[in-house]
Amino acid sequence: MATVAIYGAGQLGATVAEILTNVPHHKVLGVFGRSAREEALTSGADVVIIATTTKFKDVAADIELAVQSGSHVLVSSEECAYPWAVDRTSADHLDALAKSKKVSIAGTGVNPGLIFDSLVLTLLGAAPRGCTVAVRRTVNISGFGATVLRRLGMGFTPEVFAERVRREEILGHAGFPQSMTVVADAMGLTIDAIDKELLPLITSYEIDLPDRFRIAAGESAGVNQTYTAKVGGKPWFTSHFYGHVDLAGINKSAMDEIELSLDGKVFQTITLKPGIGSQVGSKNMVANSIQRILAAPDGWVTVAHMEPAFPESL
Ligand SMILES: NC(=O)c1ccc[n+]([C@@H]2O[C@H](COP(=O)([O-])OP(=O)(O)OC[C@H]3O[C@@H](n4cnc5c(N)ncnc54)[C@H](OP(=O)(O)O)[C@@H]3O)[C@@H](O)[C@H]2O)c1
Repeated sequence: MATVAIYGAGQLGATVAEILTNVPHHKVLGVFGRSAREEALTSGADVVIIATTTKFKDVAADIELAVQSGSHVLVSSEECAYPWAVDRTSADHLDALAKSKKVSIAGTGVNPGLIFDSLVLTLLGAAPRGCTVAVRRTVNISGFGATVLRRLGMGFTPEVFAERVRREEILGHAGFPQSMTVVADAMGLTIDAIDKELLPLITSYEIDLPDRFRIAAGESAGVNQTYTAKVGGKPWFTSHFYGHVDLAGINKSAMDEIELSLDGKVFQTITLKPGIGSQVGSKNMVANSIQRILAAPDGWVTVAHMEPAFPESL
């Protein structure tokens, strides 16, 4: 029996609670919103799930409080898939604190957490040395709440989109440098640089996102991102993300594809059709990670150091 407290009363927190409430050997202590921060983080639950926001700096103090209170921590913040990529000092501090408290911290989700890192490492297991990696994800992002959609970059003219990207208010989908670094780190590679391109997909028709906002013709209804990590001065890992709020309306289908190439030729491709859904995949991945965070080594671990996630019963 594991006790679980969930901090973050948004879409992910609420749906993870629904799943875990139906797992007989777990007890959900509650889904706690902003006003019940202390209650959630100092609950002393076996596992605290933090499902609030994207940036490591915005959850670091929350993670610290939960670890100080003796809980393992699962956190959905994309930057937490590999926090050293944004703040080495804080990541090292929390890693050391978790080790001293004999608990584990891990970022979890689908992207990052599965498609661009865990699955890539699994597929590389059957590949020869020297492969380059390309991952392509085409995904319907219409299920996210307004805050996440705005941060992704939905509903802006091209000019405002570009300005907000410059001010780092629009992130597109976050977490690609983290996923690529998880894979590089596991393989003992050092990434020299990551080239980033984040472009808006402008809609030619109005799109209503019920209970959130309307996107007018001429505004962004999707993002097209390409991040290329270089090793030894050459492209090694390319992450493509094509997210749109109305994929069917633009005649595209959800898909995930991982392609390994050797000496410029395709060595292996796996394609998931349909691709893993953002909401359904993430809520399951977080809920299915309770057992593996309990079993993980002490300290801050990445998906390269954890068992796979899977449902704990039928
Ligand atoms: N790794 C992955 O694959 C993955 C998958 C899904 C989601 N995520 C990430 O997980 C986070 C939660 O997702 P979601 O879909 O549940 O978002 P959501 O529906 O917007 O819910 C977020 C909740 O957290 C609260 N919150 C936001 N910032 C906070 C902060 N700094 N401190 C305390 N509470 C805060 C929000 O409250 P207010 O409404 O009051 O702001 C809201 O209740 C997002 O950042 C999302 O990008 C990652």
